[in-house]
Amino acid sequence: MSERPYVIIVSEVTLDGKLTLYRGASSKELMSLMSKEVYKYLHSIRAQVDGIMVGCETVRTDDPSLTVRYVEGKSPIRIIPCSTANVPYNANIFSPDAPTIIVTTKRAPSERIEKIRALGAEVIFAGEDLVDFKILLPELYKRGIKRLMVEGGASINWEFVRLGFIDELRLIHLPVVIGGENVPTLVGGEGFKSLKRLLHFEIQKHFIIDNFLITEWKVKKGYSS
Ligand SMILES: NC(=O)c1ccc[n+]([C@@H]2O[C@H](COP(=O)([O-])OP(=O)(O)OC[C@H]3O[C@@H](n4cnc5c(N)ncnc54)[C@H](OP(=O)(O)O)[C@@H]3O)[C@@H](O)[C@H]2O)c1
Repeated sequence: MSERPYVIIVSEVTLDGKLTLYRGASSKELMSLMSKEVYKYLHSIRAQVDGIMVGCETVRTDDPSLTVRYVEGKSPIRIIPCSTANVPYNANIFSPDAPTIIVTTKRAPSERIEKIRALGAEVIFAGEDLVDFKILLPELYKRGIKRLMVEGGASINWEFVRLGFIDELRLIHLPVVIGGENVPTLVGGEGFKSLKRLLHFEIQKHFIIDNFLITEWKVKKGYSS
């Protein structure tokens, strides 16, 4: 593949690896456990990247702003993969605080595309069925997005992991356990199902902010799928 942005997946996960309270729940409720200092850590990463991505389902359930608010700094370009452009027109990602790109496919109805453009967001096409990250990532790189932060959810994280398009993983460990078989975990999708295909990581840093353990990992080269 041609050049792609440096990809950092960042996530808040419970001690049992969950992303939210139950399938379909907004993770904002869980994130309300985080202290201001932890938010500062999260937003300081946002301030250091050119682009920030969350999946369309996260936009629909969490309605995040994806801006830099707890520290000084410029908000990154918001990039939302959304195969049929089914994104609420009143979503916070359309706020004027930062540019927004909706990435969609041929399946998106033209009236949705027109509406989104009228809201001031850019629409780009990548893929036929779901958004194709093999097409999208080089395109983002060409547009000057050299560092991309991916903030979930589980399905989008899997796409990046599956394709090997990940350089770093930074986790905010929420000091709680939720349980539940069907509650989304850090990485969803089909899973690798084989020891040979696993993605390996090397720990770079670990530290504690209040009662929250932060771990920062780099992908170990030579092991990726
Ligand atoms: N704790 C955290 O840090 C954190 C962060 C983010 C989200 N979350 C939680 O995670 C949950 C959402 O996760 P999720 O896995 O359901 O959804 P997601 O990863 O946010 O978004 C998945 C959606 O993206 C679209 N998409 C477009 N191209 C895709 C592709 N190639 N592969 C996969 N998806 C593609 C699809 O929607 P279309 O069919 O509309 O295209 C798909 O349903 C929510 O409960 C949210 O609260 C937690």
